[in-house]
Amino acid sequence: MEEKILVLKNVKKRINKREIIKGISFEIEKGDILGFLGPNGSGKTTTLRMIVGLSKPTDGEITICGDSITRSYVKAMTNVGCIIEGPDLYNYLTGFDNLEMLGYMNKNVTKKDIMDSVELLGMKNRIHDKVNTYSLGMKQRLGLAQALLHKPKLLVLDEPTNGLDPLGITEFRNIIINLAKEKGISILISSHLISEVQLMCNKVSIINNGKVLKNISVEELVNSGEVVWILNDNEKGKNFLKKRWGIHTKIINDKLEGNFDDISVIENINSSIIREGLKIKFVERKPKTLEELFLKLTEGNQII
Ligand SMILES: Nc1ncnc2c1ncn2[C@@H]1O[C@H](COP(=O)(O)OP(=O)(O)OP(=O)(O)O)[C@@H](O)[C@H]1O
Ligand SMILES: [Mg+2]
Repeated sequence: MEEKILVLKNVKKRINKREIIKGISFEIEKGDILGFLGPNGSGKTTTLRMIVGLSKPTDGEITICGDSITRSYVKAMTNVGCIIEGPDLYNYLTGFDNLEMLGYMNKNVTKKDIMDSVELLGMKNRIHDKVNTYSLGMKQRLGLAQALLHKPKLLVLDEPTNGLDPLGITEFRNIIINLAKEKGISILISSHLISEVQLMCNKVSIINNGKVLKNISVEELVNSGEVVWILNDNEKGKNFLKKRWGIHTKIINDKLEGNFDDISVIENINSSIIREGLKIKFVERKPKTLEELFLKLTEGNQII
């Protein structure tokens, strides 16, 4: 059985009589990178704050590596590292001093742990410079080094690429993917950027208005989409696809278009079209983007 690192069961949060989080459930297994995707004000930060113990759920249950955060708070928290709303850094100290200070507060952290973190994030050359000379990307890396210092199994990151330039985003993405792959760390990462989630995560939880609209794997997402054919006889093709495969298609501008939940069966469909005596002049596969999916789920409630 897969190792469950984080489980949320119907988690709710009421603030001033207003229910902000209305029942969120999802699971993260070892090495998963889950994208928590939703527009501004949908409840991402509020949910992440509960997971890392900064606020208490009003209802529901959160367990980290099997420990409930309400019943075994301290034990659950030993397995979490986080950056919520930007890293907490002392700008007038060096990167190393920042890490050392945090290390003092946590008696299980050794000097070797600090150097391991620095090495892991490729910060060796600049670690003895003051933080106020760092670029935003370097500060974000130092934040990651802090979050990883006590070797947590779960890393929780709230919109970590906000403000980074394209190169910074690519570097950050590679670090995250590497942490999950090489170190088996599970990562929960909130974002309002669809493309980012698609490139970095293996699972997605789409939220809006404090509710999960869909939990889906990125693979599932990539496999659902649209196929466009141009056949020598589109009308005949349309009838054949309906009869043989139960696929509903539309003829638009001399093209035959159909939607699929599993686009991987397309090879078999194409062979059967040819066996039917039809000719395929053109075929194109269009994977559904997370954006299209989100717009469908929220019925046009735009995401930036
Ligand atoms: N302490 C609070 N008191 C009252 N309302 C709050 C509080 N914290 C959050 N909210 C409300 O809860 C909702 C969700 O906020 P939250 O910050 O979790 O959204 P978010 O998805 O992180 O948005 P963003 O993408 O802008 O960071 C918002 O309507 C917000 O105004
Ligand atoms: Mg937020």
